[in-house]
Amino acid sequence: MKSRIVLSILVLLTVVLASCTPAAPAQKEIKVAILAPLSGPVPTFGVMTRDGALAAIDEWNAKGGVLGMKIVPIVEDSQCTPDPAVNAANKVIDQDKVHYIVGEVCSKASIPVSEIANAKGVVQISPTSTNPDVTVGSDGKVKPYIFRACFIDPFQGQVGAKFAMENLGAKTAFIMLDQANDYVKGLAEFFEKSFTEMGGTIVGKESYTATDTDFSAILAKIAEAKPDVVYLPDYYNIVNLVTKQAKEKGITSPFIGGDGWDSSDLDTAAADGGYFTNHYSPEDPRPEVQNFVKAFGEKYKDEQGNPKVPDALATLAYDATNLLLTAIQQAGADDPAKVKDAMAGITYNGVSGKITFDPNHNPVKSATILKVTEGKVKFEAVVNP
Ligand code: PHE
Repeated sequence: MKSRIVLSILVLLTVVLASCTPAAPAQKEIKVAILAPLSGPVPTFGVMTRDGALAAIDEWNAKGGVLGMKIVPIVEDSQCTPDPAVNAANKVIDQDKVHYIVGEVCSKASIPVSEIANAKGVVQISPTSTNPDVTVGSDGKVKPYIFRACFIDPFQGQVGAKFAMENLGAKTAFIMLDQANDYVKGLAEFFEKSFTEMGGTIVGKESYTATDTDFSAILAKIAEAKPDVVYLPDYYNIVNLVTKQAKEKGITSPFIGGDGWDSSDLDTAAADGGYFTNHYSPEDPRPEVQNFVKAFGEKYKDEQGNPKVPDALATLAYDATNLLLTAIQQAGADDPAKVKDAMAGITYNGVSGKITFDPNHNPVKSATILKVTEGKVKFEAVVNP
């Protein structure tokens, strides 16, 4: 009897105490990590990616954040390189406790980051990494937490090959590649496959490494082979070196590349006469693009104080961040498991086009062809998938 009374008192006490403890305070902030190569070989990629992502976050915060929470960006310099990118990913996940990552830019950094994010249940969206292995594992299965906002390289390589054949009338191509760069290696492979399937011939294929500065041995072979086009699917830092030396050697075969050429630091004199496939052109007259170009230019200025023109990096980082925040809003909670499901089923009208995901978390989107001419990068054509 006595123990019963004690028990009821205890129960009563627990109930009273429980009702007295204040409810957990509502979550006020939500963190989003931005992994961008601010230093290393391709710093314009990082600056533009950061600026595009922050532009989106600022807009959401000005409207009250997401689900009533203020969005707090955490920017890390991941250097377009596997080790620094992995360290940055572990830091933001383990120390800052982020549930969401926008980044990396470069496929060879995004791939190792994706393994960590997926294993730890953190949603990652790469704005611009185009290698298929970013979202799909070596087992051929989609990584449930990993997404991207751009098309993939099998398509980009095919567009490059088709353009070379149909628009430039090329029958022969010479390929230059860095085997240690997943993006370059993949894109070279996809170009070769499409070009030969369409009846073209690869008259030479030579490798270099990312630290090479003298390309004369390869260029001598190109001068001899006289290909209709040279395919060089690398980043602008390498493109600047190679095309400058090619001009000095008197090589006239046009160079063709991919999105990695997109940079305000592309040497347009050296790369003059070249073409590259890309995600977007700021010259696209669609109002979504023109409004974004205007808003971005009002927010960010270059060293001379002129409005900065958003490139594909800035635009896709803006789209990727908006996509992520929209998925969080649709999921109704700061819960990456729910957000990944919302994301997989989303339809989002971005600046770079309408985005829906295929089963491998890749958007199906059109590509743009740009031409380097008269010191500028000019819009040439749009190619639909
Ligand atoms: N697509 C490149 C990669 O996967 C990155 C990139 C995208 C660079 C767009 C420039 C512009 O590595």
